[in-house]
Amino acid sequence: MSSIPYELLIPSGLLTISIYALRRYKIQKWGWVTNRNSLKGKLFIITGANTGLGYETTKALTARQATTIMACRNLSKANEAIDKIRQETKEGELIPMELDLASFQSIRKFAAQIKDRYPDFHCLVNNAGLAAQEPAFTQEGFEVHFGVNHLGQFLLVDLLKDNLKKNNSRIVVVSSRMHEIEASIDIGNLGRWVEYDSRLNRLYNNSKLMNFYYARELYKRGFNVHVLCPGLCHTDFFRNYDPKWYHYLLFSPIVWLMLRSAEQGAQNIIYCATDSVTDEKRNPVTGYFVSNVKMRKSKYPFDEEISVRLWNESVEAIEEASRSG
Ligand SMILES: NC(=O)c1ccc[n+]([C@@H]2O[C@H](COP(=O)([O-])OP(=O)(O)OC[C@H]3O[C@@H](n4cnc5c(N)ncnc54)[C@H](OP(=O)(O)O)[C@@H]3O)[C@@H](O)[C@H]2O)c1
Repeated sequence: MSSIPYELLIPSGLLTISIYALRRYKIQKWGWVTNRNSLKGKLFIITGANTGLGYETTKALTARQATTIMACRNLSKANEAIDKIRQETKEGELIPMELDLASFQSIRKFAAQIKDRYPDFHCLVNNAGLAAQEPAFTQEGFEVHFGVNHLGQFLLVDLLKDNLKKNNSRIVVVSSRMHEIEASIDIGNLGRWVEYDSRLNRLYNNSKLMNFYYARELYKRGFNVHVLCPGLCHTDFFRNYDPKWYHYLLFSPIVWLMLRSAEQGAQNIIYCATDSVTDEKRNPVTGYFVSNVKMRKSKYPFDEEISVRLWNESVEAIEEASRSG
């Protein structure tokens, strides 16, 4: 059996140690929520709570004795997630409810049930989201990045706005730093599947920019809103991606350095839901969002006119789809 030449042993050892040290440094920089105060008596609604970041957020809040409504499009998956959480903690309360953000009918039914049974919730976490590789559309015919990642939560918040206002409940918007990368609000093509000339999924990036613009408009309208990026996290999010073998070879070391666990990424959601406070200087309108469990200023040059136009176009899209549906 051939062995590694002696002269390669030291450099490769040093490289391994350096990468490992860098990873340790990053894990510490990504941050953890240190607050362990009880959340007994607090009611949270989390969309997409059955897996990934929503699941980890639900688990952490439950362990702190919160009651959490798990708003999921598939109730069997929600119940499986509850069984899993119950193996780790018996604290808190978990309530599965059906919500498909790709259907106005489902959103309206869910909102009506919340208003009826749980009108005094403390926080709504708009977490559910997806990235599609192939053209896909919601029940009302909107392409899914716009329809699910943006318009679905827009309608949900609109239907719950009186409850949110009355209790000054928090709205947590899960955006992404991808809002800073090749993203724009393509007003003329809202809700349409567009093939952009880019290696990135521009429709996804645009939808995450919409999340930020939306949070800004909500903040201006007096809502208690926090926006965040969880970082690149190991979740089911990449389920529709089909990497080639050489992608694994080329990108594995970088991904290993950059990829945080779902539990660590969820810290940013938990921080926004329970801890972080915006102020006059640092809020969505001044471009601040939570990243690595602290406030950070976005590099995106937000445009007030676009902000209002996106809001108005969203209202119109909902009205038009509701009229023709
Ligand atoms: N993972 C990352 O690196 C990353 C980075 C930045 C931002 N984010 C954002 O973080 C959020 C959570 O993503 P994740 O990483 O946790 O992904 P995930 O593991 O794929 O979880 C996404 C959740 O959203 C739900 N969902 C998808 N479409 C839905 C619909 N039409 N109605 C209701 N629920 C729906 C999924 O339900 P099913 O299980 O039934 O499909 C699932 O529960 C997303 O908004 C994403 O954009 C993620």
